[in-house]
Amino acid sequence: MVEVQHVTKRYGSLTAVDDISFRVERGEILGFLGPNGAGKTTTMRILTGYLPATEGLARVAGFDVFEQSVEAKRRTGYLPETPPLYPEMTVIEYLRFVARINGVPASDRQTQIGLAMERTNVADMADRYCGTLSKGYRQRVGLAQAILHNPEVLILDEPTAGLDPRQIIETRKLIAELAGDHTIILSTHILPEVSQTCQRVIIINRGRVVAVDTPGNLTARLQGSQTLYLQVDTQGADPISSLEGVAGVVSVTVAAQQDGVAGYHVESGSGDDVRREVSRTIVANGWGLLELRPQQMSLEDVFLHLTTEDEAAGGSEAAEDATLDGPDEDAGETATEERTDG
Ligand SMILES: Nc1ncnc2c1ncn2[C@@H]1O[C@H](COP(=O)(O)OP(=O)(O)O)[C@@H](O)[C@H]1O
Ligand SMILES: [Mg+2]
Repeated sequence: MVEVQHVTKRYGSLTAVDDISFRVERGEILGFLGPNGAGKTTTMRILTGYLPATEGLARVAGFDVFEQSVEAKRRTGYLPETPPLYPEMTVIEYLRFVARINGVPASDRQTQIGLAMERTNVADMADRYCGTLSKGYRQRVGLAQAILHNPEVLILDEPTAGLDPRQIIETRKLIAELAGDHTIILSTHILPEVSQTCQRVIIINRGRVVAVDTPGNLTARLQGSQTLYLQVDTQGADPISSLEGVAGVVSVTVAAQQDGVAGYHVESGSGDDVRREVSRTIVANGWGLLELRPQQMSLEDVFLHLTTEDEAAGGSEAAEDATLDGPDEDAGETATEERTDG
């Protein structure tokens, strides 16, 4: 339904989107997750035909978004970051205007507008000026204009940004309802958004794809590796190589250091409980084990892990290898430094 092949967008010397490829199947909800500046909006503007790509190809429902932009746009509903409302128009006037410019036949307009207003729950605001609407209603009217011409594909740029918790729940519900007859791509920089709404997630960072998976698999993968937090009084000795020698340990990184007492993150592989052997190693060396506790890895950690790892690696080859199983030692150390800088 949506096909993106090697799309790159450069603004002068800045590469905002760097060789992105993905597909979205009919009826799927795809989450586009990435920190601010990752290139989400740029990709969406290319997909909706508002911005030409520097390189690469994008198709919506089989139509090239640039070469066949009229056909592609007819099949696309777009909710930009800021809903494109005209403050001096009432909601109903605005929706009539959008229906007209989107080529909804005059005979269908009344019905289509009625349906869109009903689905997005804005009927009671029909005669209000757009300029006087609350953020939540502006967003809903934005969604109403996106679905008005009954497009096959919906592209929603941060649809819940700036909404209050109740409006967020309502918007998510609405998106889930729309999903049945539409293919949806939504962007967000917020993790719970994708785990609650999307079937598949593309994580992008600095214009590159760093992971593609289902929210469930991302969670499963992160449960696969375990991290322990240790605090050790080593009297100046460096315990890292000893700890790395413990069977099952994948990596050891310094978390904090003060007055000869240091904190470490010890990452181990799936199903390996390394606690006994780690504590034995520390005691056998004559060091003081001050603390040892498992660390829960959240989806946030995975996200940080993937995005910082990508920055450290600085290449798309490394990005393709990015897994949740832990970086190699070099990438891990650089990632930690980068994170403190930023
Ligand atoms: N019109 C523009 N001119 C120059 N740089 C831009 C322009 N639009 C976006 N950028 C830059 O491209 C990068 C990606 O931006 P954007 O796609 O808006 O990211 P996101 O939506 O993920 O926050 C950022 O570094 C941003 O500053
Ligand atoms: Mg954006």
